[in-house]
Amino acid sequence: MILLQDVSKTYYLGEASVPVLKHVTLQIKQGEFVAIMGPSGSGKSTLMNIIGCLDVADSGRYLLAGTAIEHMTESQLATIRNRYIGFVFQSFNLIPRVSALRNVELPMIYAGIDPEVRRHRALTALQIVGLRDRAEHTGARMSGGQQQRVAIARALVNNPQVIIADEPTGALDSHTGQEIMKLFQQLNTNGKTIVMVTHENEIAAFAQRILFVRDGMVTETRLEHITGKSNIGA
Ligand SMILES: Nc1ncnc2c1ncn2[C@@H]1O[C@H](COP(=O)(O)OP(=O)(O)OP(=O)(O)O)[C@@H](O)[C@H]1O
Ligand SMILES: [Mg+2]
Repeated sequence: MILLQDVSKTYYLGEASVPVLKHVTLQIKQGEFVAIMGPSGSGKSTLMNIIGCLDVADSGRYLLAGTAIEHMTESQLATIRNRYIGFVFQSFNLIPRVSALRNVELPMIYAGIDPEVRRHRALTALQIVGLRDRAEHTGARMSGGQQQRVAIARALVNNPQVIIADEPTGALDSHTGQEIMKLFQQLNTNGKTIVMVTHENEIAAFAQRILFVRDGMVTETRLEHITGKSNIGA
């Protein structure tokens, strides 16, 4: 599903260059649930942005569902994102004063989908995340966990194959975080490929594989090897 080969990314700030990813090669198969861990500033979000086609690498190859991404224009990337990827963020990124239903409809409004179809699909997505009866509530009237569920429903409406989640439980208490992970597991069981960044071992434990980013390199690791490593938390 996701194949990175020899991918490098350097940020330039004036004279200074910050190499973030150095010749990264990794593969994530369709239907996998993968956690990405590593110290703060190690490049996890940079890697996620490349996987999510929000950014492109400086060099190397990226194949998403067999399509080469590396030389695409911004508008081609937008089309790929719309078609394959749903995004979930730490801070939910909902529009605060509009209803859950409207928030979930938003990606379909951009995609020009018919209002009737839009409404039906948004309600179905809210049903999947257990919030069908809160469709008319605004963000201000929902808990953090409920808001994240709305954000997940929004990520699902274009029926993406891949869910990209950068610290999806970072703003939630641990019980609510576990609930969100159970939802992710359910989505994964139903076929979604999930790639998630987390600092928390208890959250990473829900994934099938863990990739560890450090010093620009990505290695496969196991939770028991992470426990005890210092400075994983931000
Ligand atoms: N747009 C940018 N321009 C310049 N430098 C950047 C940019 N984005 C990130 N960086 C730098 O690249 C490095 C990796 O950043 P990144 O956000 O990928 O880390 P991270 O692992 O997600 O960290 P955290 O755990 O704190 O979220 C950091 O040194 C950061 O300062
Ligand atoms: Mg980050």
